[in-house]
Amino acid sequence: MSYIIALAGKGGTGKTTVASLIIRSIWEKKLGSILAIDADPNSNLGEALGIEVRQSVGTILDEIGAHPDKIPSGMTKDRFIQFKVQEAVYEGRGVDLLNMGKPEGPGCYCYVNNVLRGAMTELIKNYDFIIIDNEAGLEHLSRRTTRAADALIVVSDATSVGLKSAARIKELAKELKFDVKRSYLLVNRYNPKLEKEKIKETGLDYLGNLPFDTEIETLSLKGKSIFDLKPEAQILKALKLWGEKLWIRS
Ligand SMILES: Nc1ncnc2c1ncn2[C@@H]1O[C@H](COP(=O)(O)OP(=O)(O)O)[C@@H](O)[C@H]1O
Ligand SMILES: [Mg+2]
Repeated sequence: MSYIIALAGKGGTGKTTVASLIIRSIWEKKLGSILAIDADPNSNLGEALGIEVRQSVGTILDEIGAHPDKIPSGMTKDRFIQFKVQEAVYEGRGVDLLNMGKPEGPGCYCYVNNVLRGAMTELIKNYDFIIIDNEAGLEHLSRRTTRAADALIVVSDATSVGLKSAARIKELAKELKFDVKRSYLLVNRYNPKLEKEKIKETGLDYLGNLPFDTEIETLSLKGKSIFDLKPEAQILKALKLWGEKLWIRS
């Protein structure tokens, strides 16, 4: 059974960074095969993982919509979408990546989204770990990917406003009726002065924190991948303190 970890949080809190750090740790520990899903249209998970992505699920669906004649004769539209989704999975170092691209514009895409969810369910079965990097509104998660996750990690910065927003995201996940086994709070760019009470008020199970790390900043400035981070990096040590809670399944 694949183990699904979904990341959520306001823009800029560090979802993509945390997603790639988790991927790097799972890879380092050789815990199994990993599929990363970039479900944030403004995201850069590919860059963080050092994988060049040329097509996304969004562009594939747009293309099929604009040129239905391109569906090979003898192939159903459903089968063609499944095939194209598989083709859009890019192989990287220890991790494969699927980019969801832009969500659909106005109009009813219910049929396509249902087909897509079916294709995603099949794809996910091939991997031990699925890491989904979401946008704040959880749009893709609700419509196009799986609606279930073993762990939802809401990433927040170490501010009162940030934590309030984390609590709202938890509520949003509930409203959208996601089948989430555990919801966690992760405080990124941690500040020890942050009151524990504020963390408690979010109602989320506190997973742990990550410090501000200048090496992460440097990677980002140079456009390098998380795999370029030294194994002895401080931030990886911080992750080890709570990582076990995620990959030791119970
Ligand atoms: N712990 C950290 N230490 C240093 N820089 C960080 C840290 N977490 C995130 N960043 C930087 O902050 C910026 C935003 O992070 P990102 O992961 O892209 O956020 P999000 O995906 O939530 O929008 C990036 O440039 C990233 O490199
Ligand atoms: Mg991001």
